[in-house]
Amino acid sequence: MADNEATFKVQRFDPSSDSMPYWQPYKVVLKPGMTVLDALFEILNHQDGSLAFRFCCRAGVCGSCAMVIAGKVRLACETQVSTLMGRGDILLSPLPHQKVVKDLAVDYDLFFDRIKRVKPYMVGQEPYPEKEFIQLPKERVPINEPIDCILCGSCTSACTMAWTSSTYLGPAALLKSYRFLMDTRDTIPGERLDLIANEDGVWRCHTQFNCVEVCPKKLNPTEAIQRQKLKAFRRKLLGRRKKQK
Ligand code: SF4
Ligand code: FES
Repeated sequence: MADNEATFKVQRFDPSSDSMPYWQPYKVVLKPGMTVLDALFEILNHQDGSLAFRFCCRAGVCGSCAMVIAGKVRLACETQVSTLMGRGDILLSPLPHQKVVKDLAVDYDLFFDRIKRVKPYMVGQEPYPEKEFIQLPKERVPINEPIDCILCGSCTSACTMAWTSSTYLGPAALLKSYRFLMDTRDTIPGERLDLIANEDGVWRCHTQFNCVEVCPKKLNPTEAIQRQKLKAFRRKLLGRRKKQK
């Protein structure tokens, strides 16, 4: 094969007609700076219009193009094909343990249902200020990282506890919960802890760090979960002590 060519083996599966997934090879002539998402468009536009995959921003912001690329969960729009060369065919498959809608596109309904359960929005003090809720730069520090989550779903799809329980909130939802729990403008920390301090929340995390390993934004949902465990424990302890008095 020429140096400027690569073979992409894409996992194809249409649940309405296929009984099993299968691998389909596509040869792509590479251009300088080509990403895996660019290669998928090359296939879609010039070789096979039936190929399905998700994308939106093409800039690592929307989280839509997460998939398994050459054995690792990555964003297709942020992965340069040149970094994958020299190791044989480049395998592309959908996020693991997710319901496949078609080919590389998975169903995100359960993922977003999990996010919704943690009230992923700020509940500010009423009456609302005329312009905005003020937050000092130093007050923002604890949420500087979790705020960068792009909701790509990679962490939850890599979490073995989320595989075994569809009711477990999973790492992305628990990171979102932490993001609002630590927001100095939010007024419902107690309610937030009630939502996550249960067996479908933080206590189900077994600290396997799979979520940390796959996060394309290098976030740490495991740490956020442990910090919430501590907060939930302290709150329970304080409640007991108050009752004893
Ligand atoms: Fe994606 Fe990372 Fe957010 Fe999980 S924590 S949804 S892996 S960006
Ligand atoms: Fe938006 Fe890749 S297309 S993150």
